[in-house]
Amino acid sequence: MVQFKDKWALVTGASSGLGKIFAEKLAAAGAKLILVARSEDVLKSLALVLKHEYGTQSIIIVKDLSNPNAAQEVFAEVKNTGITVDILINDAGFGTYGHFHTTDLHRNEQMIMVNIKALTELTHLFLPDMVAKKSGIIINIASLAAFVPIQNFAVYSASKAYVRLFTEILWHEYKNEGIQFLCVCPGSTDTNFFRNAKMKPSQSILASPVKVVDQALQALNKNKTYVVCGPYYNKIYAQLGRFLTRNFLARIIRAKTKRR
Ligand SMILES: NC(=O)c1ccc[n+]([C@@H]2O[C@H](COP(=O)([O-])OP(=O)(O)OC[C@H]3O[C@@H](n4cnc5c(N)ncnc54)[C@H](OP(=O)(O)O)[C@@H]3O)[C@@H](O)[C@H]2O)c1
Repeated sequence: MVQFKDKWALVTGASSGLGKIFAEKLAAAGAKLILVARSEDVLKSLALVLKHEYGTQSIIIVKDLSNPNAAQEVFAEVKNTGITVDILINDAGFGTYGHFHTTDLHRNEQMIMVNIKALTELTHLFLPDMVAKKSGIIINIASLAAFVPIQNFAVYSASKAYVRLFTEILWHEYKNEGIQFLCVCPGSTDTNFFRNAKMKPSQSILASPVKVVDQALQALNKNKTYVVCGPYYNKIYAQLGRFLTRNFLARIIRAKTKRR
């Protein structure tokens, strides 16, 4: 059983959805928290709630992770406090939906900065201390979209495929060095994600974010490389690529998303 008591956990995207639930669950398990997102007021009130509910010590870092130096700045702020991060949860992320040439290029670039660049850089920056201590946990949030070619969701789907492969490779690379990696792949989940992406969910029933985080923490306890969260059929969906050609899979996904 993974122990969180008195460990420092840094959670990006802690102001909402899955990141907020990760922060709450870890606080309940005795962790101390570094909460990162852009919404300062939300982070401040979350820190107060965690203090009140669980006596959690937490600090907040208000940061737009789409800025090129954001990860370095987060790392510098943490180092200034003298804290060593034991658990890193790269949760912050968003999607843009639409026929690719009609989508906003700048927004796509920001998505790459948050979903890929910041996640990669934070992993690179916080890993050396973990390696030195021969102990650490890094949880990266990908998506069910990492497994299937979802049309009108090209940059998002591709960004999450990156997160999935990146995390799985690092699981193997660091498995004998005391570092646990986990790639979390939720299907459609009831958060602000779809509102922000201005799209309808690809599934009619949205998973509860609490259940998704519970599934992720169970997978962490089993030292899985990745976990597909949500209802059981998400797991089947994730494996379709093993049995169908990629073209056929793309046609199925297109038909499914067109219906919606
Ligand atoms: N919900 C789903 O169906 C679903 C499915 C698969 C994967 N995911 C993934 O799950 C993760 C969490 O998303 P969610 O579903 O919980 O959505 P959410 O409720 O919209 O939360 C997204 C979080 O990311 C933060 N964020 C977004 N842009 C940021 C930026 N530029 N700088 C810093 N923080 C930023 C937001 O904080 P601020 O706005 O305060 O900055 C917020 O805390 C994402 O990586 C998403 O891709 C979600």
